[in-house]
Amino acid sequence: MKVSHTAIAVMAALCSRHAAAISVDLSDTSDITFVHGSRTVKADQTATGTYVTYTSKITLKQASETQSDTLTSTFTGSFTSDFTTATNLTETETGTGTGTGTETGTVTGTVTGPAEPSNTQPCNNHVEFCTRKYSNITNIAAHNSPFVRPGNSGSNQELSVTTQLNDGIRLLQAQIQWPSNSSAPHFCHTTCDLLDAGPITEWLTTVRKWVDDHPYDVITILLGNGNYSHPSLYAPYIEKTGILKYAYHPPYLPMSLDDWPTLEEMILRGKRVVMFLDYEADQEEYPWLLDEFSQMWETPFDPIDRTFPCTVQRPPSLSDTSAKDRLYYMNHNLNAEFNVFGTELLVPAVSLLNETNNVTGYGSLGLSANNCRTDWGRAPNFLNVDYYNYGGFPGSVFEVAAQLNNVTYNRSSCCGTTSAAPQLQSGYSASLVALMTAMLSAYLML
Ligand SMILES: *[C@@H]1O[C@H](CO)[C@@H](O)[C@H](O)[C@H]1NC(C)=O
Ligand SMILES: *[C@@H]1O[C@H](CO)[C@@H](O)[C@H](O)[C@H]1NC(C)=O
Ligand SMILES: *[C@@H]1O[C@H](CO)[C@@H](O)[C@H](O)[C@H]1NC(C)=O
Ligand SMILES: *[C@@H]1O[C@H](CO)[C@@H](O)[C@H](O)[C@H]1NC(C)=O
Ligand SMILES: *[C@@H]1O[C@H](CO)[C@@H](O)[C@H](O)[C@H]1NC(C)=O
Ligand SMILES: *[C@@H]1O[C@H](CO)[C@@H](O)[C@H](O)[C@H]1NC(C)=O
Ligand SMILES: *[C@@H]1O[C@H](CO)[C@@H](O)[C@H](O)[C@H]1NC(C)=O
Ligand SMILES: *[C@@H]1O[C@H](CO)[C@@H](O)[C@H](O)[C@H]1NC(C)=O
Repeated sequence: MKVSHTAIAVMAALCSRHAAAISVDLSDTSDITFVHGSRTVKADQTATGTYVTYTSKITLKQASETQSDTLTSTFTGSFTSDFTTATNLTETETGTGTGTGTETGTVTGTVTGPAEPSNTQPCNNHVEFCTRKYSNITNIAAHNSPFVRPGNSGSNQELSVTTQLNDGIRLLQAQIQWPSNSSAPHFCHTTCDLLDAGPITEWLTTVRKWVDDHPYDVITILLGNGNYSHPSLYAPYIEKTGILKYAYHPPYLPMSLDDWPTLEEMILRGKRVVMFLDYEADQEEYPWLLDEFSQMWETPFDPIDRTFPCTVQRPPSLSDTSAKDRLYYMNHNLNAEFNVFGTELLVPAVSLLNETNNVTGYGSLGLSANNCRTDWGRAPNFLNVDYYNYGGFPGSVFEVAAQLNNVTYNRSSCCGTTSAAPQLQSGYSASLVALMTAMLSAYLML
């Protein structure tokens, strides 16, 4: 039986650990159910799958050649005067796109989008980003975005995906699995038997509606291929949510830093959703589902080390030169180790969230991101966090991104509310039991 790479990574972290474990107060264990079983083998590898490297660049089919591409992007909207300095867009992509006529005109015309934007600042809340390349912006990423359980320490986020996006999250990460009792793919944590966030169609439809309503925003979705299934198994479900009309089709594989378009080009073309799959992507067949690791690297997965070394973990054996010419993803979702029934498990280190998501200080998001920038000569593209709404102050994670991006963050604009009061300090809930049981089950299946 194949287990998800989450499970493998959890185990790998347990087996080859160099960092000191974080101690978490487990005095309240009344809710924890101890699961029974006998351990058999331990994994000796890190999160893994097939990594593809390209020795030369492939030119891909463009959206206009692969689907009827009605440009819905000729709108005026409320672009400020800053934006008009760059209204003559030039087609930088190869191929014979049909959008040339519109794109070389000035940015005037009629709003054909379905709704007026509810945000007033184009280009992801910062008009300065309009002329910057997608590859030159630091975004906050919601780790396990669908795992929302208000007031519950077993999840990764507290606020819904709509609120995440409203507050400024611009990368949504989620892992797809196949539940044993359903033929449709779901977002699940390690296994669907115990922590299931529902069919991917529901969540992706919610995201698509947000994209409909925010015509000046560009978002990224990073999908985990939990079962390493062929993309053809997911494609029909993704397609029926309607999100593909916004999907960005890159001109090349792989995309180097300079190949990426500016946000304004993406907005004008209406191609405002960049979708990555971690393993098994097939961009020649599905040009809207980008292969993550040939175009983006990641720092260590599920970190437990509060010094957060900014090293390349995936793809393995990547040269520094290659690493410096692609996007990179900084994992800052601190985990804590629990020792349950003689087995160590990793869960979000909720008691340290305010420090972990803070702008400065030991273990903070700001310190780690600055260390990465020093090490690699440029800031990370994505800062992956749990419970983004916690930190030194609500929205401190966005302050970190704003500082790296050299823009000003409006501190009064975060964060959305939840009906249940947060109880991150008050013991461990039933859902955490489920998570631990799930992790342990996965472990036992190895
Ligand atoms: C935009 O294009 C028009 C027509 O080609 C030209 O007259 C104008 O100078 C251009 N503006 C800028 C800012 O390049
Ligand atoms: C964007 O470019 C500036 C200037 O080179 C650099 O300081 C910054 O780190 C870059 N950010 C990203 C995410 O590439
Ligand atoms: C599948 O199992 C889960 C967990 O036991 C349950 O909540 C869900 O309703 C089941 N779904 C179907 C379609 O039977
Ligand atoms: C999950 O992966 C296994 C092994 O590759 C495969 O046999 C199975 O068909 C996959 N399940 C689904 C629903 O795709
Ligand atoms: C967050 O950082 C600020 C300084 O930027 C500091 O005053 C505050 O104590 C920190 N909060 C936590 C919870 O570490
Ligand atoms: C963490 O910060 C939030 C505000 O951002 C505050 O409400 C909460 O009490 C803090 N928790 C701890 C443990 O300091
Ligand atoms: C940051 O932005 C200001 C304008 O707000 C500019 O003067 C400064 O040169 C920028 N710094 C960097 C490093 O780009
Ligand atoms: C900051 O955000 C708040 C809440 O969204 C808003 O009322 C206020 O006008 C914003 N301030 C600026 C300077 O944009």
